[in-house]
Amino acid sequence: MDEKLLTLKKWIDESDNIVFFGGAGVSTESGIPDFRSTDGLYSQKYKYPPETIVSHTFLTRRTEEFFEFYKEKMVAPALAARPNAAHLKLAEWEKAGKLKAVITQNIDGLHQAAGSKEVLELHGTIMKNYCDRCGKKFPVEYVTESAGVPKCECGGTVRPDVVLYEEGLDMGVMERAINYISNADVLIIGGTSLVVYPAAGLIRYYRGNKLVLLNLSETSQDSNADLVIHAKLGEVLSQL
Ligand code: APR
Repeated sequence: MDEKLLTLKKWIDESDNIVFFGGAGVSTESGIPDFRSTDGLYSQKYKYPPETIVSHTFLTRRTEEFFEFYKEKMVAPALAARPNAAHLKLAEWEKAGKLKAVITQNIDGLHQAAGSKEVLELHGTIMKNYCDRCGKKFPVEYVTESAGVPKCECGGTVRPDVVLYEEGLDMGVMERAINYISNADVLIIGGTSLVVYPAAGLIRYYRGNKLVLLNLSETSQDSNADLVIHAKLGEVLSQL
């Protein structure tokens, strides 16, 4: 085991207050493309840039096209995916009382599927859906089984409880995330390009000296980290 991995293993073994902050790179080893890698969702060719499609304006103005993209490119891959070694290891550390929370930008529900209990979903989840008129709640199956735009019997549109571009994050979730990060002994950041705010800005609340960055590519925060490993997250965590 190389020296960096030995250091990481030591920090993990000695801590009972680990917090994990992750992004789409946590789920690529489960077969869900991320957004900004070369084979990511945002590099694929569409009529409009994907960031335009997964926006509030697009949902309200081009609802049919929104749901066509959302069901095919965001829901289907997530429902077909299974937790990978990274999800499973994080759930194991929580069960052992070592990890306090997973804070994720992902909407695929894979951390919960792996057994993690304290999961803060900054950008929401595809599993929760609600009528934009009466607020009635619907499971993800209702969305996948509806042809075209999922409608509520009241006439409203059933939309995902996902934070789209132009929409705000849940402040309650943000406050809890800040609390976990500011009290964390070890903060592990994994599988995220750290380019989308306010999520990426949360890491400035970390006050410890064990900031670990596990990411395939370089990020703007590499120089601020105490330990950086550019490798596949699942492969790294499964060695610990
Ligand atoms: N192991 C480690 N890192 C990986 C792996 C892997 N197996 N696969 C990909 N990565 C890295 C990539 O190198 C990239 O830096 O994960 C990062 C994923 O970055 P993005 O695709 O930008 O995803 P993310 O950071 O989660 O995007 C944030 O952008 O569009 C919004 O709401 C969307 O939540 C998303 C947000």
